[in-house]
Amino acid sequence: MIECRSVTEVWEAIRQLRVRGAPAIGVAAAMGVVLGVRDETESDREGFLRKLDDVCHYLGTARPTAVNLSWALQRMRRRAQSLPSAHPSEIKRALLEEAKRIRDEDEAMCRAIGRHGEALIAEGVGVLTHCNAGSLATAYYGTALAPLYTAHEKGRRFRVYADETRPLLQGSRLTAWELHRSGIEVTVLCDNTAGTLMKSGQVDLVIVGADRIAASGDTANKIGTYPLAVLARAHGIPLYVAAPSSTFDLAIPDGSRIPIEHRSPDEVRRGMGALTAPPDAPCFCPAFDVTPADLITGIITERGIIQPVTTERIREIVGQQESPASVAAPG
Ligand code: MRU
Repeated sequence: MIECRSVTEVWEAIRQLRVRGAPAIGVAAAMGVVLGVRDETESDREGFLRKLDDVCHYLGTARPTAVNLSWALQRMRRRAQSLPSAHPSEIKRALLEEAKRIRDEDEAMCRAIGRHGEALIAEGVGVLTHCNAGSLATAYYGTALAPLYTAHEKGRRFRVYADETRPLLQGSRLTAWELHRSGIEVTVLCDNTAGTLMKSGQVDLVIVGADRIAASGDTANKIGTYPLAVLARAHGIPLYVAAPSSTFDLAIPDGSRIPIEHRSPDEVRRGMGALTAPPDAPCFCPAFDVTPADLITGIITERGIIQPVTTERIREIVGQQESPASVAAPG
């Protein structure tokens, strides 16, 4: 466990993936705002609000793709703005309550995703997932893993296949760990084995999480999701995305506008610390890719399953939502 005592430590924790996964990043950022204004002088309201703005902009630069980050920061700023005549000490208290609410709501949304999605997990099925969209990526319970946890709690037995998820191995290190610990049967495979597994008939459906979903339904998620969706389509296997409404960015019309994080080439060259390529070999390392909506069978949200994935259905279920862009700082 790591304990962050300052906003800089929270920024660093998000940047270095000590806390990662879109919803968990949002919760951490909200808590980071509280830390960032904690020591601010309480006598100057205008100065306090300026500091709050600076803190939100700073935290917004930690990672660019997961929209939950700017969504949470926007909620924190709005909470402060909703108290036009409050003293800074009152605003600080309200911000702490708001951060806790964001955390609690995230857990509730994940549980609801579990309830909406569990019917997809029939007795005996094989489910393939990518990266980690479980308890370790959210306040609790997960998004892509929530339907699996709910089906497991109902006594259903099924098999999960976890892509190891190069380069940082969130699938083998995190997803396999948390499923195994919960008593769910899980098998780890190299990312490049997914096609062979699908061809063998052992995968009935694919479920993945999301970092940002555009108004069209195009979905950014961990690098490797898009080829999985192409493979799933080629094998006639349904692919579901599971995400709370805080992961939708309806201000972005389609996936071409989603900012994609590129990380250090060393994450590819030095897999888990060992040099696995010539030290000066150029590496291509986007952290996320975008899966077009037409390759997605349905999106499981806390408000129900969006299927088919169209702009109209998304608007109906996720509703009108303001753009998080107003607090998003350049990535
Ligand atoms: O780089 P990461 O580990 O933050 O990437 C995480 C993912 O891509 C997850 O699938 C996504 O955030 C959904 S988490 C519920």
